[in-house]
Amino acid sequence: MSRLVVTGAAGFIGSHVVEALARAGHEVVGVDNFDPFYPRGVKERNLADAAAVAPFEFVEGDVTDPMALAPLLDAGTIVVHLAARAGVRPSIADPAAYSRANVTATAAVAEAMRGAGARRLVFGSSSSVYGDDTPAPFREDAPCIAPVSPYAATKRAAELLLVALAPLASLSVASLRFFTVYGPRQRPDLAIHSFTRAMAEERTITLFGDGTQSRDYTWVDDIVAGVLGAVAWTADAPAGVTHFNLGGNRAVPLRVVVDEIAAAMGVRPKLAWAPMQPGDVQHTSADLTRSGAVLGYAPCTPFPDGIRRFVAWFRSVHAREC
Ligand SMILES: NC(=O)c1ccc[n+]([C@@H]2O[C@H](COP(=O)([O-])OP(=O)(O)OC[C@H]3O[C@@H](n4cnc5c(N)ncnc54)[C@H](O)[C@@H]3O)[C@@H](O)[C@H]2O)c1
Repeated sequence: MSRLVVTGAAGFIGSHVVEALARAGHEVVGVDNFDPFYPRGVKERNLADAAAVAPFEFVEGDVTDPMALAPLLDAGTIVVHLAARAGVRPSIADPAAYSRANVTATAAVAEAMRGAGARRLVFGSSSSVYGDDTPAPFREDAPCIAPVSPYAATKRAAELLLVALAPLASLSVASLRFFTVYGPRQRPDLAIHSFTRAMAEERTITLFGDGTQSRDYTWVDDIVAGVLGAVAWTADAPAGVTHFNLGGNRAVPLRVVVDEIAAAMGVRPKLAWAPMQPGDVQHTSADLTRSGAVLGYAPCTPFPDGIRRFVAWFRSVHAREC
C-alpha cells in the first residue's frame, strides 16, 4: 500500500484515478481547486460518485501555490499530477490562464516534491504536443517542436520543465501523453459529451472541417490502467523523464463518432458544417510500442462498446438531473 496525492482529483480523469487507487487499497489524497472552466457542481458529483466506490481524503487547494501541496507530501509520497486547464480552442482566447494552470502549476508541484524529498511523479500530458507535423502513428521520440495551440504549447512546456528539473531534483517521472479520453464523467466541453447532449436535446450539431479528421479515442478505464502501470513503474525508474503514449489503438473519423453516438441514442442527428477551427489538428494516432513493453499498457475497449457505455452513463446522469 502506497500513499498517493492526485492533483485534479475532481476532474474527469482524476476522479477515475482516485477511485481506482483507493479501490486498490492505497492511501489517497485528492486535491482540486474547482477551476471554473466547467461547473463546480459537476466536479462535486465526480468526487461523490468516486467516493461512493472507495473512500479517499479530499483537500480543496490550488497547486500553483507550492505551500498548498507541501503539508500533504512526505518523502514516500507518489504524486499523480493531472490538474490543468484543458481544452484546445479556449486556450487561444486565454493563453495566460493556460500558462498558469499548466506550466506554473507543474513547476510548483515539482518544487513541493523536491522540498519534501518525494521522487515519484506521474504527469498527465497530451497527444496535442505532437502538433500537425508528426508522422502517424506518433512515436514518443518525435521532436514535438511545433504545437498548434496554446494548450499544446503549455503541455509541451510543462514536459520540458520536468525534463530539465527531474535530474536536478532526483524525480523519476512518467509523462503520459493521453489521446482524447472518453467515458463516464467526461468533460462537458469534449465532442462526445457535447454531441450526445445535443442529440438528447434535439439540437443541431455543428461539425468543423469535412468530417474526415480523426482522433485516437481512448476509453477512460484504459487510461486509468496506464496511470496505475506508470505509478508502479516509477518505483524503480531512474531520475529523469520518460514519455509514454496512452491511446486507444485506432483513429476514429469525426463522422463515424457522430454515427456511433446516433446509433447508441437511436436518433437521426441534425448536422451543420463549418470550417475547421484554429488550434485543431487533423489526426491523432498513438504508437503504443513503448507503453506496451514498459508499462504493460494494452487498451481493450472497442469504440462502439465505449460509446454505448458512455450513452448509458449520460442517460443515468440526465435522469438524476430531471
Ligand atoms: N480528457 C482528455 O481527453 C485529455 C487528453 C489529453 C490530456 N489530458 C490531460 O489530463 C488531465 C485531466 O484532464 P481532464 O479531462 O480530466 O480535465 P478536467 O478539467 O476534468 O480536470 C482537471 C482538474 O484540474 C483542476 N485544476 C485546474 N487547475 C488547478 C489548480 N491550479 N489546482 C488544483 N486543481 C486544479 C480542475 O478544477 C479540474 O477538476 C489534464 O492534465 C489534461 O490536460 C486530458
